[in-house]
Amino acid sequence: MMRFSQETIEKVREACDIVEIVGEHVSLKKSGQNFKGLCPFHSERTPSFTVSPAKQVYHCFGCGAGGNVISFVMQVENLSFVEAVRSLARRKGIELPRERSETDSLTASLLSAVEYAAGFYKRQLASPAGKKAREYLDARGVAPDTREEFSLGYAPGAWDGFLTAARKHFSEAILVQSGLLVPRESGSGAYDRFRDRLMFPIRSAGGRAVGFGGRALDEAQPKYLNSPESPVFQKGSVLYGLYHAKRSVRAAESALVVEGYMDLLALYESGFKHVVASCGTAFTPEQAKVLRRYTTDAVLIYDGDEAGIYAARRALRVFLDAGLKIRLVCLPSGHDPDSFVRERGAEAMQTLVDGAWSVTEFVVKTAPDGTDRESKIRSLIEAYALIDDAIYRRLQIQEGSESLRFDESTIAYEASRLRKKTVVGADAGQLSAGPADRVERELLKLILENESLLKAARESLSEQYFKSDACREAFGLLKNMNSLQDPDLARLLNAAQNDEVRSLLSSLMLEEDYGYEEPSNVFSDYVRKLKMRWLSESIKNTEEEIKKKEASSDAGEMRTLLSRLQELVVERSSLNGAREETLG
Ligand code: UTP
Ligand code: MN
Repeated sequence: MMRFSQETIEKVREACDIVEIVGEHVSLKKSGQNFKGLCPFHSERTPSFTVSPAKQVYHCFGCGAGGNVISFVMQVENLSFVEAVRSLARRKGIELPRERSETDSLTASLLSAVEYAAGFYKRQLASPAGKKAREYLDARGVAPDTREEFSLGYAPGAWDGFLTAARKHFSEAILVQSGLLVPRESGSGAYDRFRDRLMFPIRSAGGRAVGFGGRALDEAQPKYLNSPESPVFQKGSVLYGLYHAKRSVRAAESALVVEGYMDLLALYESGFKHVVASCGTAFTPEQAKVLRRYTTDAVLIYDGDEAGIYAARRALRVFLDAGLKIRLVCLPSGHDPDSFVRERGAEAMQTLVDGAWSVTEFVVKTAPDGTDRESKIRSLIEAYALIDDAIYRRLQIQEGSESLRFDESTIAYEASRLRKKTVVGADAGQLSAGPADRVERELLKLILENESLLKAARESLSEQYFKSDACREAFGLLKNMNSLQDPDLARLLNAAQNDEVRSLLSSLMLEEDYGYEEPSNVFSDYVRKLKMRWLSESIKNTEEEIKKKEASSDAGEMRTLLSRLQELVVERSSLNGAREETLG
């Protein structure tokens, strides 16, 4: 694995303000000296995700996630340490040493091939070759600004239009792996995957092109051809348009969710900028979770025909299960969002969004003709069982109970019974919030809070006094720090590669300070406690060892053990004596 020097890592980290970077994914509100928001890493309704601008550290008191700006980017964008550093450096225009690692350079090559392709297709659209595609866009009413903003392009009709241009910059292997070329069956050579298609670059939430959707300009099949999966394009976890929509989603505290590329563009263009789409597949739990990082509310817009309702019913489960509160719009039959908004206008669309059905309304109103009351109740219960948030669930249950005039408590009872059955261990695997030992933990907190204790800790506190692995490791890192002020504090978290240790440290950093008047007294008391515990255990262990060894007759070893025991006992009584002295 490639490694950057500490200087490089620090330069990047210091250039990236944690509030700014976190703020792109989490809506943060000022709270005292810190900022708070809903944790992007687990579902919650009350903010326990805390960011400290002074310390450049975040911690979620709900799930334990924590760290500095680099670990945040790692977690939220699912990157390795090196990739996260690189991604931050890119944003801040910091030059990094050339990469050497194989996987990292593969990712980088694939990304630059896709980016290159996006540029190529875009130039083609503007060129004489793109005339047909431009006319197609004109006919569908896609405005020039929209084409520009979404970097629409055109893949020329030849088998090697892209290949000829791209092979000057990339190996065929990379172009094949990125899905832009298809290897020939004969085994040698490759040809353009996308030919004579209108091209929609698909971007990651961070704005990098990772794949394409390509629409046929005539009746060619398939209508939409999408990039295959690659190391940089996991269809199931990318949302088309999210990069453009994320600010508006956060501002609106809601997202519109549609299925098609064209639907998204039409809505965007009509002023609905908080809109995202799936990428040629049905919505996946990953996509729903990604959206959940930006908002808790979504309006799903589906075609009103049978296929649309079927798709909506499926999406409903996925989104509810991801912790989103949803409402649904079923468009008049024969319309999709694109045709509706272009034909009827933005106001009519807004009216539909305002009047979007709740989950309860949707389930009741879209039940097939002739569905009996009991089946409707059961369908409702199935939907309610997916809702984690107790208030949202109860509100829906009340609505369902009123709508079908059926006993509320029975619905609630069945929903929670079903819920327990389906979500066993859903949240398992979260970090334990705190390590076992309170004193060890508080001791670390004291040191973090009072830098003056750092020196004392180096002298009087030994790593072996710690029983909790996380605390011991955290202390090992702490005691090597020069200072516990801003840049050093966040740097400490780079060193903590283990999640549990990092979580422990970030939580200690962001917990409220104890504010002891005489922290050094508390400190020595705690040190004494730990040391005493360690001495007593060592004495016990040594005694046991002596007992075991009594039978065997290695006199030398026995002498060592006995003198060790002696030392430990003396040390313990002097520690006891010291205690009595201070107690007066
Ligand atoms: P639709 O068939 O509803 O098309 O597919 P659309 O979005 O209305 O497209 P236009 O208006 O005819 O251009 C909805 C979405 O399903 C995916 C695409 O993401 C499309 O936007 N899809 C559809 C495919 O991936 N492949 C296909 O062949 C068809
Ligand atoms: Mn359409």
